[in-house]
Amino acid sequence: MRVALFYFSGTGNTEKTVLKWKEASLKEGVSFDIFKIEKDEFDFSKINEYDKIGFAYPIHAFNAPENVWKYAKKFPKLEKKTPLFIIMVSGEYLTVNHSSGKKLLSILKKKNCFLESDYHYLMPYNMIFRHTEKRAAQMYNTMTSLVPIDVKEYLIENKPHHLKKLHLVGWFIFLLRIEQWFTGINGKAYKINQNKCIKCMKCVNSCPVNNIVYEDNKFKFKNNCLCCTRCSFYCPTDAFSIGLLNGWRVNKPYSFKEPNKEEKDKHPHYCKRSYIRYFKEAEERISSSR
Ligand SMILES: Cc1cc2nc3c(=O)[nH]c(=O)nc-3n(C[C@H](O)[C@H](O)[C@H](O)COP(=O)(O)O)c2cc1C
Ligand code: SF4
Ligand code: SF4
Repeated sequence: MRVALFYFSGTGNTEKTVLKWKEASLKEGVSFDIFKIEKDEFDFSKINEYDKIGFAYPIHAFNAPENVWKYAKKFPKLEKKTPLFIIMVSGEYLTVNHSSGKKLLSILKKKNCFLESDYHYLMPYNMIFRHTEKRAAQMYNTMTSLVPIDVKEYLIENKPHHLKKLHLVGWFIFLLRIEQWFTGINGKAYKINQNKCIKCMKCVNSCPVNNIVYEDNKFKFKNNCLCCTRCSFYCPTDAFSIGLLNGWRVNKPYSFKEPNKEEKDKHPHYCKRSYIRYFKEAEERISSSR
């Protein structure tokens, strides 16, 4: 079996998940090719060589990021009806998030794909607030334990996974697509603190849509920002401010390791019930697979 997975990851969480899928698939003897959407490296004339197509993305405002479904639009119509699987990564295990692929799916249906299986893994926030290292490690460890189970069930035992969806959630998701219009405008309001910036050009060189340019000793922002937060998250000196969303900015990668010392969880009640449900369901699946 040959599988192609197309993905976008703003700050690396989706990428970590995709790499685990690839690793687990190869271990099971499945040919598993991954393609980064932002690199636009895939030769579409080869698409019919694959038996299953996957898409993976971080959830942005209850939707797939705009560049993901724009990329799907470029797909040619497939020769045969092709099974599709979707991998969502986000900071909240809310059922409403499970419908985030709605628009992506409607585009891919027109390309002759049908949704066969979908997955949602919790990974820490790169926006709103910083999860504790303890929580981030718990999310990461859970994801790495779940992926081999999901891969085995789906690609070897032919047992797809179906996320529970809410009825009548489409209009809500649709309304929140306004975020994609807003992020373009908000991106123009990004600022860099010149006293902190060390001109490493990490932000300029890593932006997936080339939204940041450095000209005449000045940083300029164009109007196609996706608000993936990569620029501000990885800035080594925390020199960024991200416009109206600056109060929600998260800077610095997570270690994904249990911390040595106790940290204060500033948001102990945030999404508490959905986290309990996610980790409980995951633990049950992990222990029954042992
Ligand atoms: C603009 C933006 C909007 C987001 N909206 C949501 C959301 O609606 N639900 C959610 O659970 N997480 C949301 N998140 C959090 C990310 O989905 C989460 O941090 C994810 O792990 C990031 O993955 P990445 O590192 O692959 O970009 C949002 C993040 C950003 C930057
Ligand atoms: S990543 Fe930060 S320090 Fe480096 S050029 Fe950009 S703003 Fe300056
Ligand atoms: S400007 Fe920053 S937040 Fe916007 S798309 Fe580029 S890297 Fe992502």
